[in-house]
Amino acid sequence: MHDKYNMMGVLAGFPEQLKKGWAIAKDVKIKGKFENVAICGMGGSGISGDLVIPFVKKIPVFVVKDYNLPEFIGKKSLVIVISYSGNTEETLSCYNQAKKRRAKIAAITSGGKLAELEKNVAIIPNELQPRAAMGLLFVSVLRVLFNSKIISNPNVGSAIKAAVPKACSKEGFLLAQKMKGKIPVFYASENFKGVAYRCKTQVNENAKQPAFFHTLPEMNHNEINAFERNAGKLIAVMIRDKNDSLRIKKRMDITKEIIKENADVAEIKTKGNSLLARMLYTIYVGDYASYYLALMNNEDPTPVPVIAELKKRLME
Ligand code: PA5
Repeated sequence: MHDKYNMMGVLAGFPEQLKKGWAIAKDVKIKGKFENVAICGMGGSGISGDLVIPFVKKIPVFVVKDYNLPEFIGKKSLVIVISYSGNTEETLSCYNQAKKRRAKIAAITSGGKLAELEKNVAIIPNELQPRAAMGLLFVSVLRVLFNSKIISNPNVGSAIKAAVPKACSKEGFLLAQKMKGKIPVFYASENFKGVAYRCKTQVNENAKQPAFFHTLPEMNHNEINAFERNAGKLIAVMIRDKNDSLRIKKRMDITKEIIKENADVAEIKTKGNSLLARMLYTIYVGDYASYYLALMNNEDPTPVPVIAELKKRLME
């Protein structure tokens, strides 16, 4: 099996996507004073909601990966609706509810029904797999939030410098070698929860194999017990950030020691001058790792026939 659809080329274009995403959404803004933000989207689109959470500090933000908006979302809410295809049923259902409740809406999509329905929309190029367009989608959401005065300037231009293709590809390859034949479980602090989830889902979709994630400190209160039995096939991949608190750092050290007794452990040490930079670096390493793991698994990283089949059966 080889990379028939050139996922490697798409990966190499990640820094360019990040630049483009900022420009694409430049005119999408919503004026007003909001009580809360809901970000709606599934899978490769919804992940952008998870990733922006650490940047929204002044008002509550909720990521909705379901058919229904929480009841408190209404006129004083900003609802950002993300669907790469523009046709995802859960996301469209949230969009319709947001409209009915007269929430302020912005959409990010490459087309489909969402582009037809919503005028306040950032249109993303449409030739990619949704998860492979993450650079465009994530930065577009940041731009909409910045334009709408919900977050301060995330300095995307400078953060992009951490996403160096060659260095991240090399790190990713080394990680893939460690993950080969294993089931990775990504662990991170709460700030990196979205990043850990992205790493997990990229292994699922690119390499077509199980992978899981959890956060510290919570996993110290339950999942840490699980390594006592049947853990030989697992590899814990600890995402370690220099700005994790001292307590989290200590917990990571101890957790690693405990896990090592019964399973493999690897680390990704985040690099970059800002939280966004370190997130982008880690995402990029994780994306490359899942890519190389796909090739090692003899899988083509791009197509996801099971998702396509499931969506088809839902239409029957
Ligand atoms: O990776 C995928 O293809 C999925 O996770 C999709 O992103 C998900 O099904 C939602 O589709 P869309 O991103 O088009 O809204």
